[in-house]
Amino acid sequence: MEWFFCKTKEEGGKKTAEYIRNEVNKNPSLNLCIPTGSTPVICFKEMVKMYEDKRLDLSCAYMYNMDEYVGMSKDHQEGYYRFLNQHLYSKTNTDMSRTFAPDAVATDMQAECERYTKEFYQNGVMDVIYLGIGTDGHIAFNMPKEVHCLDTHIENLSDDTVAANAQFFDGKDEVPKDAISIGIGMILKSKRIVLNAFGKSKAEVIKRLYEEKAVDPYLPATFLNLHDDVTIIVDEEASSLIDR
Ligand code: GLP
Repeated sequence: MEWFFCKTKEEGGKKTAEYIRNEVNKNPSLNLCIPTGSTPVICFKEMVKMYEDKRLDLSCAYMYNMDEYVGMSKDHQEGYYRFLNQHLYSKTNTDMSRTFAPDAVATDMQAECERYTKEFYQNGVMDVIYLGIGTDGHIAFNMPKEVHCLDTHIENLSDDTVAANAQFFDGKDEVPKDAISIGIGMILKSKRIVLNAFGKSKAEVIKRLYEEKAVDPYLPATFLNLHDDVTIIVDEEASSLIDR
């Protein structure tokens, strides 16, 4: 893992946007899997700025959601597809016909999981996966637990995650309890991985991730120790407990 310690989240977001821009410049029709949550919004803002300054062209890129709450349609107010559309797609020249997400209202969710795994690889392997991290160490919606799925699957969300994501809903009770998510195997098959963690709430988990040199299924981000091209970009608050 290569770690970058930035002073502020703005600096971290900018560095991440530069990383993505370099990848897009190398291969304009790359496969890019992107996260949701409050963290990536900072990088997305920077990407929008780059697009407006004609420094970023997403018109040929293939964009993939990594997860979605079960029961949320693509146009649902709190849904993740709509979130990416609002913060990134609609503000850049992303070609909407090249954007993909699991169908979280499918009648047969098991069949949908299989379909999305296939769609994820329709143009070959993922070039870059951009991740956030939960306070419990989850990546995409792969929660801490003993056994992990490799491919797209349904996850029961932990109480911590439901509580953390309540900020996007009218209270905790409104947060869906299940999600459809890409699996750990799909993350590890990506050519490159970049992860962001910003803010004090991530300090504990970032210290654990920094110190853990093994794979701990109860800290899913440690699966990234198995990959040889992982970049972690953190701000001062998220790295404040690390002893370096
Ligand atoms: C959700 C998403 C994750 C994201 C996490 C952290 O659980 N499924 O992909 O990394 O939230 O979100 P935030 O950036 O708001 O802390």
